[in-house]
Amino acid sequence: MNGDILQDSLTLLNDWLNMSKIIYIDEVEIKNKTVLLRVDFDVSLNPNRTIADDIRIQKNLPTIKYLLKNNNKLICVAKLDRPKTRDPKLSLMPVVKRLREYLPDYKIILIADFLSSDKQVFEKQTNKEILVLENIRFYPKEKDFSTIFAKRLASLGDIYVNDAFAVCHRSDTSVIGPPKFIPSYGGLLLKKELAIISQAINKPKKPIVAIIGGNKVSTKIGLINKLIKIVDYLIIGGGLANAFVNAQGHDVGTSFCQYEAVQQARRLLSLSKKGRAFLVLPVDAVVANTKEDKNSEIVKIENIPSNKSIFDIGPETKAQIGGIIAKAKTIIWNGPVGYFENPEFKQGTDFVYYSIAQNTDAVSIVGGGDTLAAISKKEYLDKITHISTGGGAMLEFIEKGTLPGIEALKK
Ligand code: 3PG
Repeated sequence: MNGDILQDSLTLLNDWLNMSKIIYIDEVEIKNKTVLLRVDFDVSLNPNRTIADDIRIQKNLPTIKYLLKNNNKLICVAKLDRPKTRDPKLSLMPVVKRLREYLPDYKIILIADFLSSDKQVFEKQTNKEILVLENIRFYPKEKDFSTIFAKRLASLGDIYVNDAFAVCHRSDTSVIGPPKFIPSYGGLLLKKELAIISQAINKPKKPIVAIIGGNKVSTKIGLINKLIKIVDYLIIGGGLANAFVNAQGHDVGTSFCQYEAVQQARRLLSLSKKGRAFLVLPVDAVVANTKEDKNSEIVKIENIPSNKSIFDIGPETKAQIGGIIAKAKTIIWNGPVGYFENPEFKQGTDFVYYSIAQNTDAVSIVGGGDTLAAISKKEYLDKITHISTGGGAMLEFIEKGTLPGIEALKK
């Protein structure tokens, strides 16, 4: 091959590699543009509809401020919860009010319906105004992908930026649609989430420990399959563990248990015995009659009373997993290990949290809506390397290495 042909081939290869990469907003000049910004404002609300926890808004602020600094106008697109149609209880108004506190120099305007609102609001937007489209899930076409709806969204901006890692596992119109029509980039939070999670999975400092809780085995089976090949210890807790405990031959009483997943749990147990990850299951449990019950007792896992349910891990399990977490160099945690909503059963989840926070030598990644709800008001949050805004997105990204929202941004 002569030099020119080699050079051409290298250029082609380089172009191809660049084509399949996300370009992030700090890698190009974005100035004086109207930016359609997909953010994650999916905050948890109190029953009176005030914001209970705004960590997701806070995590999008660096991208918002970065874009504003360069004289761009922002049109934010976000969803809140899972409305099927317009539901005033799930308006983004509380989010708009919180944004006004974080960005006092800007006028933040909620656009009730961007499809029917006066075009002048968009045409006359100044760079001191931020427009927030009302909950995008109010539009059925958000979930039911629509090219026309994607075009309408895209027509609002010169460019599109996705900073909503938590919804990147969804093929929702606002997540995968606009990149088909306007130049599109990744935001700073998306960049951070992907970099930290990829590093932890692809080049982990060992030993690597994953703690997976929550309830449903069926939604986490793919993830567990993947994790068992890459981690050294896989700690399983929460309702999820009950299928494994049952697969070990123990009765789980009246506990929540996905019996249809027991066969798969048995297969994973045997994989773990073949030298894959060491699977760590509860050896004792806190049991009670109901989740509201205040009279709990601690029993060995092989002695769960037939009329009681498991609601938390027991002290022997805590001692065992505490030792494993203390030695870890990389820790991934998703899902509470007990019914943390009742203080009687939150000690296991608290224990996992404090054990992770105490191991400051390790790279620690914590994610998942329930996990964040269980820890969000706690001290030592700054001792966690990365608190992921993604629940399902984090798990699916670990499992598959990519997500629809990421693919949509690739050039
Ligand atoms: C999440 O909370 O994990 C994301 O916001 C995704 O929400 P969804 O399950 O309603 O798509």
